Amino acid sequence: MDKFIIEGGKKLKGEVQISGSKNAALPLIAASLLAPGNHVLTNVPNLRDITTMISLLKHLGANCSYDDATLKIETDNIRGDDAPYDVVKTMRASVLVMGPLLSRLNHARISLPGGCAIGARPIDLHLKALSTMGADITLHDGIVEVRANRLIGSKIFFDKITVTGTENIMMAATLADGTTVLENAAREPEVVDLAACLIKMGAKIEGAGTDTIMIDGVKELRPLSYKVMPDRIEAATFMIAAAITDGDITLKDAPIDCLDSVILRLRETGVKFEPIVNSINVRGLEKPMGVNVVTSPYPGFATDVQAQFMALMTIAEGASVIKETIFENRFMHVAELNRMGANISIDGGTAVVKGVKGLIGAPVQATDLRASASLVLAALAANGTTEINRIYHLDRGYEGLEKKLKTMGASIERVPEGV
Ligand code: EPZ
Repeated sequence: MDKFIIEGGKKLKGEVQISGSKNAALPLIAASLLAPGNHVLTNVPNLRDITTMISLLKHLGANCSYDDATLKIETDNIRGDDAPYDVVKTMRASVLVMGPLLSRLNHARISLPGGCAIGARPIDLHLKALSTMGADITLHDGIVEVRANRLIGSKIFFDKITVTGTENIMMAATLADGTTVLENAAREPEVVDLAACLIKMGAKIEGAGTDTIMIDGVKELRPLSYKVMPDRIEAATFMIAAAITDGDITLKDAPIDCLDSVILRLRETGVKFEPIVNSINVRGLEKPMGVNVVTSPYPGFATDVQAQFMALMTIAEGASVIKETIFENRFMHVAELNRMGANISIDGGTAVVKGVKGLIGAPVQATDLRASASLVLAALAANGTTEINRIYHLDRGYEGLEKKLKTMGASIERVPEGV
């Protein structure tokens, strides 16, 4: 397994291009199953999770070609109706093919995703919604089987706000018989991006971006042709890279209007922002102020930025309290940060971070995507050398991370396994 060797202490300077959003691209790729024909997605990031989703679509009978951020998908002969465990266990977002397959083939078999490092991550809300819409659901040998001749437009209330749950049911409802209303729906920008694409395909959707989304079922949809929105979590990660290295960087094509809560908190630490056309300049400082954070569904502070923000707080002036409310085990980065000299204590879903003078480079272990990003940020600021093992977690969600950081002056090398 590859590892990163990072020499800390370099102030990042220069420009970085923000890539297309992983969490927007994944549901958009699944949406191509809703209609036969030739689909085109542009600004698709080159990530492991995208490769996984493409291989799942090929398994289902689609023809796919990916080149220079453009993904072409031909879905005339979707014959497979299953998402096998060996795919789903590596990427929970595989569950996003369930709604489209059910609408297209009246049948789908999805291996239950099982848990992952950050939590149990069940799909009960997805299944409850499909059952309300008339699907017949059976569970055997870890496989959930859903059948429906035609889904019936229904009123769905999500007991918890679920991003992929909202996306899955919104896609399924586009071809249902009648009107579906999603209440307590996720408001994430990636849900809005998916709705915009589905509307271009001929779907009738109103309210995306609010907590109530209304979908009028249609008979059929056109093939999609759509540009994926920029990745707001990658952008937030680079903003914190500037902050933690006392750097001065410009993020090109950052989706600034989707980052209000992150920018607000970073401003409170003392980070300076200057919006420029289609980009934003971010300037760090020698000693950021400690700031408290509570994660919450959009437009609140994103759980996917919690670990990265915590890395910044480890060297802040004073203490900060970070509360994780979305996932039950999203503090895997804490033990590793403490190995680098941080002073963090955990009590359930709350971490108390006492700022230290500086971090010290050390060998650490990546455990999940955003925890890995947190360790990279800490290593950039640490005094000395840090070795981050198992960086395949990073390759799931950050396109060309070491190249982008190196371009801005970081000392970072990828060491392939066995070297
Ligand atoms: C999406 O995951 C994102 N992934 C996650 O990003 C992100 O952390 C998460 O939303 C929250 O913002 C993609 O969009 C591909 P949820 P998702 O359903 O949809 C519980 C990253 O780092 N829940 O919104 O799987 C669940 O356990 C990834 O890029 C149920 O109980 O998350 C969690 O506690 C990590 N039953 C909460 O709801 C369900 O049926 C929110 O989960 C569904 C969810």
